[in-house]
Formats: sequence, structure tokens, C-alpha cells
Amino acid sequence: MLEKSGFDGLGVVVTGAAAGIGAATAEVLGGLGAHVLAIDIDADGLTELAARLAGSGAACTVVEADLTDRSDVERIPRAVDESGIVIKGLVNNVGVNSRRSIQDLDPEQWDRDLARNLTSAYLLTRALLPALLAAPRGGSVVNVSSTHALAANPAALGYATTKSGLLGFTRQLAAEFADRGLRVNAVCPGLTMTTRIADRGIPQPQEHLRDRLLGGRFAEPEEVANGIAFLASDAASYITGVTLPIDGGFTAR
Ligand SMILES: NC(=O)c1ccc[n+]([C@@H]2O[C@H](COP(=O)([O-])OP(=O)(O)OC[C@H]3O[C@@H](n4cnc5c(N)ncnc54)[C@H](O)[C@@H]3O)[C@@H](O)[C@H]2O)c1
Repeated sequence: MLEKSGFDGLGVVVTGAAAGIGAATAEVLGGLGAHVLAIDIDADGLTELAARLAGSGAACTVVEADLTDRSDVERIPRAVDESGIVIKGLVNNVGVNSRRSIQDLDPEQWDRDLARNLTSAYLLTRALLPALLAAPRGGSVVNVSSTHALAANPAALGYATTKSGLLGFTRQLAAEFADRGLRVNAVCPGLTMTTRIADRGIPQPQEHLRDRLLGGRFAEPEEVANGIAFLASDAASYITGVTLPIDGGFTAR
């Protein structure tokens, strides 16, 4: 079914592509024949990703940019134009949990959470909208939210609020652009064993989580990436405006 992904050398922009879920998404999309336009603030991580993709025969162009900086975001459509790559999709993946409750979340951190987790997606989607609307057989946007947008967890106010905002953003764009062939969907991963998470030293779910998770384990980045790649692809040609939890059943219970 995913042989019909429709990427065929077309470009998919992936933000936060230097590590974790973004890097896994870049690798899955590259394997499906997309030309990955990898965006990140981490230049070294982008170089490593580009080498891995080149090693597997996948096409990749990297753009170093801070997505909380408007002038950096404005450079991205120009970089895409100059590359000559025709855009098919966009994966808005950048986001970080500042892990604070309201008393510890000062206004400066609140603004940083908004800028990184929500405004970055708005700015880049807006900047790439003309290219996405012109995409062959219809464009696709996938926004990476979180289970924090579906069920409350203590001490994550900025994260839960911005990730919930991303779901409204998804539905709104899906409704506004369905008649122009642009699909917009969201995924809500549960805890995923990226290097950053593994470095925190939580290799196994705690006892109280184990019986709520498929196989009693957290997700691997590639398992989340597969869901993102599916929604980005033509295999999901009649799916728009949905929120797909990729959480081992966590929020179903
Ligand atoms: N890992 C999880 O358990 C988990 C669970 C649910 C949702 N998510 C979401 O998935 C997405 C990816 O998470 P991850 O765990 O893979 O993250 P990660 O920290 O492993 O990687 C994030 C990448 O984004 C880049 N980045 C951060 N700020 C940036 C900025 N301003 N401009 C450009 N690049 C920037 C980083 O350099 C890094 O390469 C995030 O939106 C996160 O909220 C992750």
C-alpha cells in the first residue's frame, strides 16, 4: 500500500529532523522515495542525517534554521525554490516539553513554549502554503502533537496547551483547504525512546504504565515515523483533519 506513497522524488520538509522522531521520519520518507528537506537548528545533527540518507541512497537537502526566528523561517521557501525541488508535504515536528506547572512557568518560558511548539508550525505552514497548494496530486501537512494534548499530565502546562493548539490548527487548516486538495493531519505520540528520552534514563515504563501500553513498552522513533509517513503520503489520500494517537493504546484506556 505504501508503494503508492506518491513521493517519487518530490520534496517533503521535515522540521526538527536532526534527531529523534524527526530524524526517523526523514529516514522513512527518504526510503519511500521522497526528497527530504531537513530543517533543524543543529547543524552537526543535520550533517550526520544527510550522510545516513546518502548512505541509503535517499535524497536530502538540509537547511539550518531556528524556527522560532521569523527571518530564518522566511529563508526556507527561498531555499526550497533555489533547490528546484517540487514540494509535496510538510511535517511540523519541532517541539519540546518545558515540563513546568503554572507557578514555575514564567511569561518568558510561556512565550518560548508557544514560539517553539505552535508558532513555528504556523509560520512555516504559512510560508510554504503556495507550494503545498501547488503540490502534484495534492499536498499534505502532518503536525506532531502529543498525548499531552489528549489527556492531562501534571507539570506540563506550556506543552499540553501548545500541543492542544496544534490540534485546532490542524482541523482548521483541513477544513479550509480540503477543496484545494491539501490534507492536514496530526499525530499524538506517547513517550518515544529517542536518544534525548533514553538519556534521561527511563528505558522501561514504570509499573503503573506497563499494563496500559501495547507490549508493555514505549514507542520506538521509527514506529511514530511510520504513522507520520503514512499520513503524509498519497496512501492516506482521503484522510484529512484527523488526530492519530501513536501511543500503544495509552489514551484508549
Ligand atoms: N519523544 C517523545 O517521547 C515524544 C512524545 C510525544 C510527542 N513528541 C513530539 O515529537 C516531536 C519530536 O520530539 P523528539 O523527542 O524527537 O525531540 P528531540 O529533542 O529528540 O529532537 C527535536 C529536534 O528539534 C530540533 N529543534 C529544537 N528546537 C528547534 C528550533 N527552534 N528550530 C529548529 N529545530 C529545533 C532539535 O535540534 C532536535 O534535532 C516534538 O514535537 C515532541 O513534542 C515526542
